[in-house]
Amino acid sequence: MDIGVFIPIGNNGWLISTTSPQYMPSFDLNRQIVQKAEGYGLDFALSMIKLRGFGGESEFWDHNLESFTLMAGLAAVTSKIRLYASVAVLTIPPAIVARMASTIDSISHGRFGVNIVSGWAKDEYEQMGLWPGEAYFGYRYDYSTEFVTVMKELWETGTSDFKGKYFQMSDCKLSPRPGTPIKIVSAGQSPRGMEFGATYCNYNFTLGKGVNTPTAHAPTNQLMVDAAARTGRDVGNYVLMMVIADETDEKAMAKWKLYNEGADMGAMAWMSGQADADPNAAEGGTAKAISAPEGAINFNMGTLVGSYASVARMLDECATVPGTKGIMLTFDDFLAGMDQFGRHIQPLMKCRSDRLAQAA
Ligand SMILES: Cc1cc2nc3c(=O)[nH]c(=O)nc-3n(C[C@H](O)[C@H](O)[C@H](O)COP(=O)(O)O)c2cc1C
Repeated sequence: MDIGVFIPIGNNGWLISTTSPQYMPSFDLNRQIVQKAEGYGLDFALSMIKLRGFGGESEFWDHNLESFTLMAGLAAVTSKIRLYASVAVLTIPPAIVARMASTIDSISHGRFGVNIVSGWAKDEYEQMGLWPGEAYFGYRYDYSTEFVTVMKELWETGTSDFKGKYFQMSDCKLSPRPGTPIKIVSAGQSPRGMEFGATYCNYNFTLGKGVNTPTAHAPTNQLMVDAAARTGRDVGNYVLMMVIADETDEKAMAKWKLYNEGADMGAMAWMSGQADADPNAAEGGTAKAISAPEGAINFNMGTLVGSYASVARMLDECATVPGTKGIMLTFDDFLAGMDQFGRHIQPLMKCRSDRLAQAA
């Protein structure tokens, strides 16, 4: 079972609250988190790309670093952990992203991969004059498909003559090519998103669901397992979970209650407005799921709240769900959380015992 960390490239991580830890993103913060993660034997770190915040009292995600440049820096100060950067496909041409990836492959010595973001919040793109119009909601995965095809051709052969609807290459060149195949990941939850993941990606992220319901992602996992069976490819699910841990269940639950009491309604209202802008949004799709009112404070992400032993038990349960290849963690406080995970939680996890034995 792989374990990864979704690093806080935006302020305040994934809690849309005024009473959760308030912090700005910086290279130093993310370096400390990723170096701790590497020290505790975690397998990967991912940073997202977010180009416009949600506002509100907590200025949620109004402060965000850029994903590829952050991961390039992190590649230079780590040696084992796999690193994924996210690209918003509307913002950078695929031949440039292919070259950026090739460069980080060189810095990281083969530890780099790319998360494909087709886009769900149109204000992020409209502010730069890069929003193609409402019709994009209907063809964003076709666009992403051409984008990935161009990158793969360049990585694999060094040349692309791809002629598509959205991208046209004319003897386009890439060298040096990556020494190791660049892994592609995505996070579609809609049927079309899963089909895309099953066809082009190595892993697809699944949103965990609910509070202390660590197997609730089983139906979503199954959709991805079925999609991968149709394409005949090995595509694992990485489940996204927030961990809020403390010495006792009561102490952890008190933190979770406090964060909920400070929910930033202004920021959540913006998110919900963006999600509603897509008239075609599938019910199971990300935009609808993350903004559902009951758990919008942390994007309706699966949340494990409890003592170190309770969280370890729930992570083990999460790992038993068929189709789960890994779990990607977020924390309320990433520095403290990473240490709690590494020192107190991971040593209790059955699904990590082989990895810990190997490392010893
Ligand atoms: C683990 C994870 C990472 C994500 N990273 C980003 C990101 O970097 N930027 C972004 O705008 N959306 C991100 N998303 C959202 C999805 O990429 C996005 O909504 C995608 O369009 C999926 O749409 P669908 O569920 O409707 O298929 C992420 C979602 C998850 C679960």
